[in-house]
Amino acid sequence: MKIYRVKTYKEMCDKISEEFVNDIIENPSSVLGLATGSTALGIYENLINKHKQENLDFSFVKTVNLDEYIGLSNDNDQSYRYYMDNNFFNHINVKKENTFIPNGLAKDLKKECDAYDELIQKLNGIDIQLLGIGHNGHIGFNEPNNSFKKDTHVVDLHKETIEANSRFFSSIEETPTTAITLGIKNIIQAKKVILAGGEDKKEIIEKAIFGDITPEVPASILQLHENLIVVMVD
Ligand code: GLP
Repeated sequence: MKIYRVKTYKEMCDKISEEFVNDIIENPSSVLGLATGSTALGIYENLINKHKQENLDFSFVKTVNLDEYIGLSNDNDQSYRYYMDNNFFNHINVKKENTFIPNGLAKDLKKECDAYDELIQKLNGIDIQLLGIGHNGHIGFNEPNNSFKKDTHVVDLHKETIEANSRFFSSIEETPTTAITLGIKNIIQAKKVILAGGEDKKEIIEKAIFGDITPEVPASILQLHENLIVVMVD
């Protein structure tokens, strides 16, 4: 595990986008595992700038997102598809058909989850996975639990996650209570994992990477990853 303790959010984003840029240059067909949330925004901004100013090429890249709310349409400005399109994909030259996000409107959600697992296998796994972290230690939407859920699955969001996410909705009643998320196995099988967190995540990141490995703190499983990079504001 490599840990970078940086002073500012900007430094964190610069360090992480540098990792992505180097990997994409080295392997232009990289499969990028992507995250939503406010932590990731500055990283996408940097990558867009690299594309616009230095022609960083995304035309062979494929992207796989961690999660999506159930019940929101793609044009709902709180869906993760909307977030990704507007904050990243629309500003680079990735092919839209190579950007994958679980479909939270699928009629058969179990089938959708299985198909997502198969897709990742078909892509030969994720090369570089970006992760934010919830205050309760969740990664993607893998909430604290009594066991690690391995594959893509439907999850009932915990009260604190719904409350945290409600800041983006007009009321708590409108905030989705369920989501589809990659499982822990999908995440841990990525060839490289980058865990990012701002100042407010310092405590939970330290608990995750130095504490016990337990499904009660889902991110703690990352301690077992051979190529984990943690970038945190300290
Ligand atoms: C949501 C997402 C996670 C993200 C987390 C943290 O729960 N599903 O993937 O890591 O939010 O978000 P933020 O970066 O806004 O704190």
